[in-house]
Amino acid sequence: MLDSKSFVVFASGEGSNALNLFKAAKERGYHAKALIVDREAPVIQRVDPHEVPIYRIRSGNEIELLNLLSELKPKWAFLAGYKKILGAATLDFFKSADFIRILNIHPSLLPAYPGLNGYERAYKDGVRVSGVTVHFVDSGLDTGLSVMQKTFSREKKDSLAEFIAKGKKIEHELFPKAFVLAMEDKLKIIKKENSHFVDWEES
Ligand code: GRF
Repeated sequence: MLDSKSFVVFASGEGSNALNLFKAAKERGYHAKALIVDREAPVIQRVDPHEVPIYRIRSGNEIELLNLLSELKPKWAFLAGYKKILGAATLDFFKSADFIRILNIHPSLLPAYPGLNGYERAYKDGVRVSGVTVHFVDSGLDTGLSVMQKTFSREKKDSLAEFIAKGKKIEHELFPKAFVLAMEDKLKIIKKENSHFVDWEES
């Protein structure tokens, strides 16, 4: 039996999104079961291990990961700047009838710029409108169904740092919102004849 209102976060970087989710969880009484990192990353120093246990599991070591998940029984997983692809058995662990209970935050308006360095690539190309996507994870590279997207404009004078700062501000708004909807079991998939999309009840 999965532990309801519980989750794990996967991260590989600075951890600003991970910290935001842990903060939202604390305020709402959700159970943060683990921070899982695949490398020595700054996020490790920013999370209090007494509040959230930290596990270092190299990507590719799926058996170790599955053992941990079977022990912790989290209902949801959130990828907060996790730079690796999860294996098929891990996706299976989080599989529900309609979706896989894993959300990712991505620094572009998917389907544009999937993969790594979304901001840098969009900035280099000179895009005038970029954005952030929160999406369900599936077996592809950033191909899962979008839950939320929000755009920002690029001014000609914006430096790369300014461009990224605009995006990060939106990330910190969108991901906790989607996180709460997920934890409250409010996300659902609407299936239409020619399409399907994510919807939720407003609270
Ligand atoms: C974010 O830009 C996120 O969109 C991407 O990785 C970055 C992680 O940032 N997937 P942080 O480590 O949460 O600060």
